[in-house]
Amino acid sequence: MNLLPHTLLYLVLQFLSASAQTRLQLPLNAVSQFSSGNGPYVIPPAEQVIISVAACSQTTDVRFLISNESGSATPSISDPGVGEIFLSSGQGQFTGAFENGGAVVVVGTGSFEIALSTTGRPMHALATDLPLFGDSTSNQAILFSPPLFRLEVPGPTYPNYTLYPVDIPQDGRPTTTSNYTLSLFPTSSLQGSFPRSGCFLSRQLDSDVNVNQSLWLRDEQGWRSQFLLGGLTPSTNYTAFLLESSSIVRGPIYFTTKSAAFPCPLVADLPYCPGVSYAMPLPPPPNNAEIYTGDTLPSELSDPLRSYLTNFTVTLGSFPCGRDMYSPLVTCLDCQREYRKWLCAISLPRCSEPSPGNPNGFTAVAPEPTVTGLSATKNQDQQVLSALQPYQTSTPPRNSALPQFTSSYQMLLPCIETCTAVDRACPAFIGFKCPTAQFNGAASYGIGYIDSADGDEKKGLTGEAQDRWGNVWCQLG
Ligand SMILES: *[C@@H]1O[C@H](CO)[C@@H](O)[C@H](O)[C@H]1NC(C)=O
Ligand SMILES: *[C@@H]1O[C@H](CO)[C@@H](O)[C@H](O)[C@H]1NC(C)=O
Ligand SMILES: *[C@@H]1O[C@H](CO)[C@@H](O)[C@H](O)[C@H]1NC(C)=O
Ligand SMILES: *[C@@H]1O[C@H](CO)[C@@H](O)[C@H](O)[C@H]1NC(C)=O
Ligand SMILES: *[C@@H]1O[C@H](CO)[C@@H](O)[C@H](O)[C@H]1NC(C)=O
Ligand SMILES: *[C@@H]1O[C@H](CO)[C@@H](O)[C@H](O)[C@H]1NC(C)=O
Repeated sequence: MNLLPHTLLYLVLQFLSASAQTRLQLPLNAVSQFSSGNGPYVIPPAEQVIISVAACSQTTDVRFLISNESGSATPSISDPGVGEIFLSSGQGQFTGAFENGGAVVVVGTGSFEIALSTTGRPMHALATDLPLFGDSTSNQAILFSPPLFRLEVPGPTYPNYTLYPVDIPQDGRPTTTSNYTLSLFPTSSLQGSFPRSGCFLSRQLDSDVNVNQSLWLRDEQGWRSQFLLGGLTPSTNYTAFLLESSSIVRGPIYFTTKSAAFPCPLVADLPYCPGVSYAMPLPPPPNNAEIYTGDTLPSELSDPLRSYLTNFTVTLGSFPCGRDMYSPLVTCLDCQREYRKWLCAISLPRCSEPSPGNPNGFTAVAPEPTVTGLSATKNQDQQVLSALQPYQTSTPPRNSALPQFTSSYQMLLPCIETCTAVDRACPAFIGFKCPTAQFNGAASYGIGYIDSADGDEKKGLTGEAQDRWGNVWCQLG
């Protein structure tokens, strides 16, 4: 607690001794919202209370003062038990013992929230794990929550080498999911500082935007809430926050929608490629569907992919896969998982375009397949250029099973790390080899983004495939 200047303290004590009918009892383990008011708000007696407070509007200008006297007797001016909760990004908290109860007094004007928690976890908080951006089109986007819980998969051990089936079962979905809601607005629509509080952010969702929330087992990190957004504005930088139980805030992340002419629809929810949630060079989805899913992706694409996966799994299953037999670090499950990600990334090309902030950030001419020594570069403004490769309608498609596409587009190449991960996780007899920058690797992969062009781990130009600011440099499976 911080001692207050005497004038303010005098003000507090005046409030604390105010008449009984203005006193409001705060409930424990619930969030109370007030459009205005000064209190005092009474804290019931409890051994350990986390008081959390939040400002609910940009114009809220309040200070939160707390006393460990519930207030029947006027506290003395020398009472050290009066302090202030300072706000940071519109939220603040204080933990203390209130054996005899206490009170919160609010000085100033504007709407706010007060919550008392006895669970050991504050009811208002800015959590550090971030939502994940899948991809966008001109008016749609796919976002994910952080993993809801990790999936425990027993490693295959001798003599039981059970690997995953071709279609990852999307069953066993969590029954007690966190209650997530999305806050989404054009980044330019909120100028100046604003509170990062659930009560403020929950009102920031464009009425034109529609949100379809579902659960998806995306990868080994576990189940996530998946948000399919529609009704967005083209070429716009959006800010997204995720709100849990309306008062735990995650974010922001930023992402941009593509230009109005962007020709590629979104593909997601493929049980054989559960990590795919991006735009592909395909005609509009059948039956006016919003996106392609496992049921509608053309079988010319999915059949060979599933066949490769089946055959690879058969080959892998012929090998003694237990940790004891193969490697202390990785098992055949890791090998199968990384192979699946790689196969999906190279079989299902991703469409993209330069971000509006860096419109010239792409190679105008595709490098010849034989060209050597290419890797990630920066432009004159020190912005890293994405691994974008132009494709004309006349260019033969990378994957011959891909239906003829009637627009030119730019392909976002897979990160070379999707390939090196297979190399690292799979037994040597598989004979998996990745191209390098010294050879002609950059004709088919983004090289030098995550790992350096020489292969030093995480020493590349960006250290990651995409960032929270909306930059996407290469496609990580
Ligand atoms: C309030 O807190 C002060 C300082 O921590 C302490 O001296 C005082 O006894 C407390 N009063 C009550 C009623 O708990
Ligand atoms: C092998 O492991 C799988 C998955 O862990 C399990 O479902 C199956 O019952 C096991 N089979 C045997 C024979 O232990
Ligand atoms: C989720 O939160 C919203 C908004 O706070 C609330 O209306 C809804 O009842 C909650 N749903 C569940 C399942 O808790
Ligand atoms: C929401 O998404 C799910 C799964 O992607 C789909 O089955 C459902 O039809 C969608 N609902 C609407 C209203 O679009
Ligand atoms: C998978 O193996 C079967 C049987 O050996 C073969 O007919 C098929 O062509 C293989 N699939 C691919 C994609 O190579
Ligand atoms: C989106 O806006 C944020 C905040 O101004 C900025 O930091 C970020 O770089 C922008 N993202 C893109 C891809 O332009």
